[in-house]
Amino acid sequence: MMSNRHVLITGGAGFIGSHLTDVLLERGFRVTVLDDLLPQVHADAECDEEGWPVYLNKAARRIRGNLLDEGVFEAALPGVTHLVHLAASVGVGQSMTNIVDYTRNNVMVAAMMLEVISRGDHQIERMAVASSMSIYGEGEYVRPSDGATIAPPMRSHDQVERRDWDHHLGAEVLEPVPTREEKLLQPASIYAVNKRDHEEMFLAVGRALRIPTVALRLFNAYGSRQALSNPYTGVAAIFISRLLNDQPPLVFEDGSQRRDFVHVLDVADAFAAVLEDDSEIWDVFNVGSGRPITVREMAATLARLLGKNIAPEVLNRHRVGDIRHCFPAIDKIEKRFGVRPRRDFEVGMEELIGWVQHVRRPPD
Ligand code: UD1
Repeated sequence: MMSNRHVLITGGAGFIGSHLTDVLLERGFRVTVLDDLLPQVHADAECDEEGWPVYLNKAARRIRGNLLDEGVFEAALPGVTHLVHLAASVGVGQSMTNIVDYTRNNVMVAAMMLEVISRGDHQIERMAVASSMSIYGEGEYVRPSDGATIAPPMRSHDQVERRDWDHHLGAEVLEPVPTREEKLLQPASIYAVNKRDHEEMFLAVGRALRIPTVALRLFNAYGSRQALSNPYTGVAAIFISRLLNDQPPLVFEDGSQRRDFVHVLDVADAFAAVLEDDSEIWDVFNVGSGRPITVREMAATLARLLGKNIAPEVLNRHRVGDIRHCFPAIDKIEKRFGVRPRRDFEVGMEELIGWVQHVRRPPD
């Protein structure tokens, strides 16, 4: 069985999918990439005549297609034993205006794929889907006076207008702690609602068909091949671009908000471990670095790595939709699959700097 493993990766030409393609080929899988090559994602990467990014591994079979088009998914399935579903519309802000589009691309596509799978004319024996930290809304907190665990709602409009950044109950400021998988889901954007739905749809149908299925809740992934020029790229790439232009990074709130930045190869390793396992499972797992960092620390680290003596500009202003803190507990996936993030944060950021510089370099 080992030698006949054939994985279909939807969205396989993207940031995470292309790294996962490399990792799975390395581990002996056959890989088929199904991708629509969206301009919003692939605008800045160097592409071949057919529109495929040049970084995509030559050993992968390629199919260009949109999963909403009838028959595209089915046509990719012959011989496929493992499915990784990464294709999605991913702009959190954009999801709040392009609601129909996002729901079509993220939820209706899941429905179409699962209906094809439910018909049974395929060899899929295992599935993994990309979910997102965004489905938690705010992260998990404790009340210091009694240690009670709290899942606070989003801060109110009034609170952020007062520039009162932290969560509190009465006079007591709540302390953020690592968010566990069982935390109440409080998705606060259409994107997040879509991700929650598609996670639950895959788990429900996978369980009913007895196809082991895992949803990985990715925290803030970063690394080479990340799309840079669209407005939904992460804070690290934005800060690097500004620093390279000798502009100060712009920091929302007071910069003390915490996130977890996970190297894309640690994300790829997590997917690979899930696929290589062969036990029955229908479950969700956080994927992060286990090393939370504040936005201000991020700005300072990047300035130092770039050799720029530029302090960030702290805006003391809220960005609509932002949560205060969310970083993951990562022990569940380690216990179950034996994977642990291995990439060093500063080495990873050096790589991201290299990628941003590579993309900015005008072609000869
Ligand atoms: C959001 C999504 C997440 C998605 C990610 C990347 C939520 C809860 N999460 O994460 O699913 O993977 O976007 O698209 O919606 N910041 C600045 N200055 C900037 C840019 C950002 O201070 O110029 C701050 C933000 O206020 C935030 C932090 O940096 O506190 C991280 O922002 P970002 O990288 O956009 O990711 P998230 O909002 O955490």
